Amino acid sequence: MTDPNCVDVLVLYATAKGSTRGIAERIASCLRTGGTRVAVRSVADTSPLPSCAALVFGSAIHDRQWLPAAEDMAGRIAEECGVTAPVWAFSVSSVGSTSTLLSSRLADFLRPRTPEPLAVQRLRKQVPLRDHRWFAGSIAPGDWPGVGRVVFRLMGGHYRDARDWPDIEQWARRIESAVHSST
Ligand SMILES: Cc1cc2nc3c(=O)[nH]c(=O)nc-3n(C[C@H](O)[C@H](O)[C@H](O)COP(=O)(O)O)c2cc1C
Repeated sequence: MTDPNCVDVLVLYATAKGSTRGIAERIASCLRTGGTRVAVRSVADTSPLPSCAALVFGSAIHDRQWLPAAEDMAGRIAEECGVTAPVWAFSVSSVGSTSTLLSSRLADFLRPRTPEPLAVQRLRKQVPLRDHRWFAGSIAPGDWPGVGRVVFRLMGGHYRDARDWPDIEQWARRIESAVHSST
């Protein structure tokens, strides 16, 4: 029987409105198709993490940074959580590598100028960080608080789901082949 405390890949995520969870679940289902043993966990789950050969760790972006619970876990991933496996990180924001919730002109301007979130920089210092990828998420009317809503419209923002599923799946396949080539 499979040991639930030991998986090939652990997909860990932090979400406020659910789009990051959707991406985490899609990555997990792509990995499972290839026969990889995968567990998906929210950072809100405080039980001990299963041991894993690889960690995929993603968070929604608020105010240019990972959500506080993900930031907190990223800061203690090696020492307290015991993760020493290679890590693939992803950030879910208004602007992804291949799609955007904002105007495409503004997205082209922002992509090369957006610094890596602090949590990702912290991960890099503790574990072998194999990649960090930006995905666009989704936004609905009412998600942004007052002033943010106005700024969002001024930036050419549209309320919609901008997740690029083929790009997300391609990234998952790259992780899968890296995991299998190292085992
Ligand atoms: C309060 C708030 C702050 C946000 N801050 C940013 C930001 O600083 N940069 C950005 O690109 N997107 C920002 N966004 C957009 C979110 O990153 C995007 O909607 C993402 O899909 C949210 O993921 P979730 O559905 O998993 O919570 C913000 C959204 C909200 C609601």
